Amino acid sequence: MKKTMISAVLLFCLLLQGCIRMGPQPNATGEGGDLPTVAPVKHYYLDMQYSYQTQVDPNLLTTGLHADYLLLANKEYPLGRDFVPASLTALTCTTYGGKTVELDARAAQALYLMLQEMAVAGVTDIAVTSGYRSYEYQVSLFNYYLSQEQKQISSNAIACFGSDYIQRNYYDKGVAMLSASDAKTVVLSYSAYPGTSEHQTGLCVDFMTSTMSELDATFATTQAFAWLSNNAYRFGFILRYPEGKEAITGYTYEPWHYRFVGREAATDIYFGNLTLEDYLGK
Ligand code: DAL
Ligand code: ZN
Repeated sequence: MKKTMISAVLLFCLLLQGCIRMGPQPNATGEGGDLPTVAPVKHYYLDMQYSYQTQVDPNLLTTGLHADYLLLANKEYPLGRDFVPASLTALTCTTYGGKTVELDARAAQALYLMLQEMAVAGVTDIAVTSGYRSYEYQVSLFNYYLSQEQKQISSNAIACFGSDYIQRNYYDKGVAMLSASDAKTVVLSYSAYPGTSEHQTGLCVDFMTSTMSELDATFATTQAFAWLSNNAYRFGFILRYPEGKEAITGYTYEPWHYRFVGREAATDIYFGNLTLEDYLGK
């Protein structure tokens, strides 16, 4: 009788285990027995749970859903000029050109853990080039882009309006500079109007590698991007402006821009192929 009970309990445990999938384990040695395993995160769309082994202290990973991590900043949901995150910290990881970059302290901790795990996986060519940006900084950035777009007709302008429009309205008329209003439309396709930038939340970062001299699509060809694509969600980060989701996010593809939302939300967003807007129902 006792034996039957033990067998039944064992069987139940095995069945229960079947409901738990192990997520990607990029750094597991194969045996992986001495690596700590992070408690599973539920992915509710597929009703599965994901756990994985890690090189970092799993107790330091932010697991819970937290309203602060889900702050939405976009064209429809502006933060306004007065919003300043409560707990900014200056990053101590590698930054592009050694510049000072600030981030929400909880996002910063998750970022350090992610970079630590990346380094163990052999990916060390990565630097943060932007984190928190104040309203005032976004004003100067936006104005800079506006002036640049008015100097010449850029590839951004052609991508934004289509070559037919540019041909008819500019080249055919011998005009080589965008109008102020068209320049603004172009800039709004890749840069946030002051008061609406996610960078003002202090919850996102832009990455660069040593092969890049500016933020551009070449980041998508780097080892860092390949690693982030498979693993960022484990640390609570999502690719915020994916390719093909421009109509939802309002911005063109930005392979370099990662947003901290916490591990729970990031897991759902990653496996559900969602944007933050989809996830929040906005
Ligand atoms: N490039 C992103 C959309 C920003 O300016 O916040
Ligand atoms: Zn960015």
